[in-house]
Amino acid sequence: MNKHVFVTREIPDIAIAMLEKSGCQIDIYKGQGIPSQRDLIRSLRAHHYEALLSLLTDKIDASVLDAAPFLGIISNYAVGFDNIDIAEAKRRHIAVTNTPGDYVDVVAEHAVALVFALARRIIEADRYVRMGHYEGWSPMIFMGTEVSGKTIGIVGAGRIGARFARHMYRGFDAKIIYYDVVRNSEIENGCKAEFVPDLDDLLAQADVVSLHVPLMDSTHHLIDARRLSLMKPTAYLVNTSRGPIVDEHALVGVLRAGRIRGAGLDVFEKEPRLAAGLARLPNVVLTPHIASATELSRNHMAAIAAQNIIDFFHGKKLKNCVNL
Ligand code: GLV
Ligand code: GLV
Repeated sequence: MNKHVFVTREIPDIAIAMLEKSGCQIDIYKGQGIPSQRDLIRSLRAHHYEALLSLLTDKIDASVLDAAPFLGIISNYAVGFDNIDIAEAKRRHIAVTNTPGDYVDVVAEHAVALVFALARRIIEADRYVRMGHYEGWSPMIFMGTEVSGKTIGIVGAGRIGARFARHMYRGFDAKIIYYDVVRNSEIENGCKAEFVPDLDDLLAQADVVSLHVPLMDSTHHLIDARRLSLMKPTAYLVNTSRGPIVDEHALVGVLRAGRIRGAGLDVFEKEPRLAAGLARLPNVVLTPHIASATELSRNHMAAIAAQNIIDFFHGKKLKNCVNL
């Protein structure tokens, strides 16, 4: 087939093996760490690349696309694709694909893990034990909150939000309420989930608010200072979607003032930087954007990303196309 594919960083071998087997010529970015836009532009100019396998850290806009005039597909190794100007790609007839799938929905498990890390104060307690502060069982230390039977508010009931709902409903008898722009009959039937048409109402009712929306203009700062103030003082906020959905500066303010009980964040507004003061708060659990980081999930994502490119070159209908 002899098509040229540029891969912006090392990803699981399975993707490279699949692309090689289908006859593609593959170049992988050779620099250290996250390539800058200048690095991407320089790399893309080196060849007539017909496919780009990108990561969520690669900002792909018109300036990058100008460097790759032969590109037919951008296969993003991620569920989210807010790093790509998909309208600009469409204007140039370039397909953009993502990597959703059953195994990738493990992001929902990470949201569950953050809920429990917060509610049972796992991180604080671990630190306490390691520091040598544990002097024997005590009736009053590290009082947490039980999760069973609580009201779980899901913002965005797509694949991952629906999976999270199912875990909480089946595992912990949670009452599920959800907000989305469209209704999801699967979780209404399967989890007795109640649709709440107004996000403000959901925030006022939920004991845990978990975010599962994609980042778009309409979801940027969806959770802002006003909406944070609607949450219960005992509630937790969990974000495994995209950082800019939450006004992180405002979140630090409400956490510091004790206006909500805690937050579990896998994503940040300006990754890898954190809002001032966030890392000093005791009532947050912070993980470095690892919600899909299991071997099985990342291998599946790599295989889906490669298959999207192979399907494109074979003129097949693209299952995961998000822009054409
Ligand atoms: C990770 O954040 C992804 O979008 O896959
Ligand atoms: C605690 O360890 C208990 O036995 O209640």
